[in-house]
Amino acid sequence: MLNDLSSTLALLETRRSGKPREMAGPGPTDDELQQILAIAARTPDHGKLNPWRFVTVGRDQRDDLAVLLHLALNEHDPCATAAHHEKEDEFAQQAPALVVLVSAPVQGHKIPVWEQELSCGAAGMNLLLAAHALGFVGGWITGWRAYNERVRSAFCGDGERIAGFIFIGKPDRELEERPRPALADVARRWSPPNISEG
Ligand SMILES: Cc1cc2nc3c(=O)[nH]c(=O)nc-3n(C[C@H](O)[C@H](O)[C@H](O)COP(=O)(O)O)c2cc1C
Repeated sequence: MLNDLSSTLALLETRRSGKPREMAGPGPTDDELQQILAIAARTPDHGKLNPWRFVTVGRDQRDDLAVLLHLALNEHDPCATAAHHEKEDEFAQQAPALVVLVSAPVQGHKIPVWEQELSCGAAGMNLLLAAHALGFVGGWITGWRAYNERVRSAFCGDGERIAGFIFIGKPDRELEERPRPALADVARRWSPPNISEG
């Protein structure tokens, strides 16, 4: 069983993202979305810099998002076809809720930007977990839109960038497990380097 909500441990062991294009309603209420964001903000953060932002895009703003994406696509790919533009409409309208996760590192600080970016990734993970704990599924995607300057500047301030579009909703079909790495391939006991004396 995926996304087993019977216990904290069961959820952690079975959590599975949903595909944003396969998400239906009902989405989180305003209160639930605030709860999800509050949990996401409760994230390890060296230096207490809060190097992340959560930008919500309401259902009533999806048409504006689509307009932005059409403009961005024209710049990203001047040869984009009508079918490509249709994908932008689908992207903008999919799933009941959308949070744009923004990486907002403090430059020139003694805490390295790398650590601040790690904290942003952790905030994204917490956001997903919170959504799942409330009985929704989340889906974190990037793609060309996350790296496009017009889209970036629509969501981010100077020095910030898009870490992901996190869609939230209910799966409209049964989720399937995806391949997971064998633990032996990703976890090992440390082998100390052979440091010869003298
Ligand atoms: C930073 C980041 C960016 C991602 N971007 C995409 C993407 O653009 N398209 C996509 O299909 N999946 C993308 N994924 C992967 C999806 O989130 C995928 O559904 C996820 O790995 C499913 O794994 P899970 O069930 O363990 O959450 C991205 C994941 C991360 C962490």
